[in-house]
Formats: sequence, C-alpha cells, structure tokens
Amino acid sequence: MPNVAVINGKFMPLASAKVSVEDRGFLFGDGIYELIRSHKGQLFRIDEHLQRMERSAQAIQLDLRHSRKEWKGLITKAMERSRIRDSKIYVEVTRGAAPRSHAFPQGVASTTVITVRPFEPIPERFRYRGVRVITTPDLRWGRCDIKSLNLLPNILAKQQALESGAFEAIFLRSGQGSEATSSYVTEGTSSNVFAVFGDVVVTSPQGPTILSGVTRDMVLELARSRGLKAEERAITSTDLFQADEVFLTGTTMEVLPINRVDQTAIGKGKPYRTTQQLHRRLIELMLRP
Ligand code: PDD
Repeated sequence: MPNVAVINGKFMPLASAKVSVEDRGFLFGDGIYELIRSHKGQLFRIDEHLQRMERSAQAIQLDLRHSRKEWKGLITKAMERSRIRDSKIYVEVTRGAAPRSHAFPQGVASTTVITVRPFEPIPERFRYRGVRVITTPDLRWGRCDIKSLNLLPNILAKQQALESGAFEAIFLRSGQGSEATSSYVTEGTSSNVFAVFGDVVVTSPQGPTILSGVTRDMVLELARSRGLKAEERAITSTDLFQADEVFLTGTTMEVLPINRVDQTAIGKGKPYRTTQQLHRRLIELMLRP
C-alpha cells in the first residue's frame, strides 16, 4: 500500500484518510507535528524525533495517546506497509474534534495522524552551487521551540523567498537592551542556520526563539568529532554576511550550502569545504546509523 495514512491508529490509503472539520488542528492549529525520514528502509533518528514530540506535547498540555514504544511501532508499521524505502513520515497530534470553543474540550481524545510519502531529495545542483536565501523579520511568537502546527509566519516568509527567486528565508530578530540596534539570526522557515568562521562552526543557541533541530544536534556533534570548534551563540546579521560559509540544516535539507544572503555573496566564491564535509559525514551516518 503506497502513501499510507494512519488515523487514530487505523491504517488506510492516504487518499481515503479524513479528519473532522471540527478538529482543533483545523480550527486553531491546536497541535504539534514531526517530520521523520526513512532511508533505505530504516527510520532515521526516530528516538530524537519522538523525544522532541513528547517535549512539544508537554509544553501545550497535549495527550499523545501512545507511549514512545507504541508510536515507534505504529510509525515502523506504516513505513513497512508503504514499501517506500526513502520516505518522509509526517506525524501530527491535535487536541481532537469538538465544537469550536477556545478552551480545551473536556473528555475529548487527541487526533493522531501518520502519513508516509516518498522522500523527494533536494536537487543535486543545489548542493554544489549553494542556494540563495533572503532575510526577513522574525514575526513569530515566543515559543518557537515547540513544533507547533501554527506555521503562518513560516509559510509567508518561505513564499516571500520563493517569489524573490530564493530557496529559503532566514528570520532575523532585533536585539534587546544594549544590543537593540543589532539584529540576530534565529533560524530558517523550516531549517536551522549555521555560519563557519575559519575552523569554528556557529549556530544560534537553543531557547524559545528556535526549534532545536535533530539535524542541528547531529551537525554540532559531527563538527566536534572532526576537530572543528562548534559554538552555540548568537549570530548577528553582520556576522552572517561576513562568514566564510553559511549553511542550512534540517530533515529534508540535510546540510545545504548558501551562496548568497540577500544581495551579499558568501565566502568570496570559495568552495563550501566545511559544509560539504559535514554533509558527507551526515550521509555516512544515515547509511550506517
Ligand atoms: N522542519 N527549524 C524549523 C522552524 C523547522 O521547521 C525545522 C524542520 C527545523 C529543522 O529541524 P530538524 O533538523 O529536526 O528537521 C528547524 C520540518 C522539516 C518541516 O517543517 O517540514
């Protein structure tokens, strides 16, 4: 059965999967999600994704309905039934279906959804040429660490990027207090951002202004294990334009070099040595988890 869906534990073809129009995911974006990959029939970093899903659920007082072991079982079964070896598995949990009212409904079970589709890789030319990104003000809320369904600012920024011929938008927040005149990078619309300065790899620190990516954590570890210095600290917009290399990380993007931020070329035309090295290491991990 290709393109499988699992709705509240029931398996079906994706084309016939339905949820209620009164579902709070639909009405309010009242829920959370994860995007997980399978590579050659193996789930990649499933525990890390489920752990983050538990954190997101706890932060919004949402009942996940299943234990970690049960989720793993359902996701594995969905992947196997789909027979798709390189898949993207979308998992969503909402606060269930109930007549529209802002307060949490009482005695209503969460809605759980798993869908499995083929993974579409990023075109290879993007990996050696790099991609262009734009910067845009970060208009999101104060809990971007929760992988919430509310993605309107992300969607609008991504569309703005595409309409200006760029691949991704990087969010910039203004500094506070004595740093009020500078702005700093938070993350991309569906990616984390890294900058390379010599042998130092820098990414924004964990906290409420970013979603701490599973790929981000792996890249930090890979960098350290390769003898690079890896720092989690604020990247100002000035740093970004002056970096030797800038790259995006994420489940679908892996490690993707950036060749231009707004009108500024990054790295003075040098090849993306560190970026490509880290990407190769990440792929090795996917092949031998
Ligand atoms: N997004 N930051 C944001 C805002 C994201 O949405 C994502 C992933 C990431 C990277 O996280 P990870 O490395 O765990 O994929 C960072 C997924 C892919 C999405 O929304 O489709």
